[in-house]
Amino acid sequence: ICNKYDNRKVHIRLTKRRLPHCIIIGARKAGTRALLTYLKVHPDIQTAQYEVHFFDNQENYDFGYGWYQKQMPYSFPDQLTIEKSPAYFTESSVPGRVYSMNSTIKILLIVRDPVQRTISDQLQLNFKGLDMGLEVKPFEELVLNPKTGNIDMNFKPVQRSYYDVYMKNWLKYFPLNQIHIVDGDQLIADPYPEVYKVESFLGVRHAIPQSDFVYNATKGFYCVKTDTAYQKCLSGSKGRSHPHIQKEVIEKLKDVFWKHNENFFELVNQRFFWNN
Ligand code: A3P
Repeated sequence: ICNKYDNRKVHIRLTKRRLPHCIIIGARKAGTRALLTYLKVHPDIQTAQYEVHFFDNQENYDFGYGWYQKQMPYSFPDQLTIEKSPAYFTESSVPGRVYSMNSTIKILLIVRDPVQRTISDQLQLNFKGLDMGLEVKPFEELVLNPKTGNIDMNFKPVQRSYYDVYMKNWLKYFPLNQIHIVDGDQLIADPYPEVYKVESFLGVRHAIPQSDFVYNATKGFYCVKTDTAYQKCLSGSKGRSHPHIQKEVIEKLKDVFWKHNENFFELVNQRFFWNN
């Protein structure tokens, strides 16, 4: 539980598992693991190792807050605990459940160009399918309705990119200033400024310097310095190269997302480049 900024090993008996002060709610395939990995470097932050799925999984939820707390890492009294489960963003029951547990919890949402997120989402499903011996179909075949040739609006990876729909649900429970939105495309291109803004939002000191982010040309992404590694890169399942998708299909996806994106920009009072 100690890291390179930490010389408090002697106080280890002061540590205990605490319910999260902050949750990363999604969006799936928008860079949630990268964000958590970067925040883990911070001396005042402890992060849950795996996706706990407390609020979205009924069985887990029924285990209660005591169970949830036991899934959390040990932390010092002045450290923040963060958990990420990207399914939280899209599951309609989750915001109300989070609110019931802690109405002042800090919420991080990371979003990414919905077209790229959709492709990434399908790629992830392909890999899971391959593991189960299923046949992998081309993206174009899956995303288009075979009868009309239009985008299948009910296709899960497409649906999960309707950010406005889910955001509206979260805003029923939490004010906008309790939800910080991270630009996932910026986090890929240059993580430092995005992480700096998250530190401000969380009210922790700026303790992750720019020099901790190291671009790894082989991986094609930033990696981060940790107490144990000069460069901790994310696993091979993060930052996969995407297949070439027909331009026409990309254009159709853009059209489908255009209005959703505009609605989302208005809801969060912030614009992203996706509709440019
Ligand atoms: P791709 O694999 O489609 O490129 P999540 O962790 O929410 O599943 O998001 C995965 C995405 O995080 C990856 O999608 C990748 O683009 C993005 N990402 C952001 N920073 C990254 C990093 N430093 N290393 C690897 N992937 C990163």
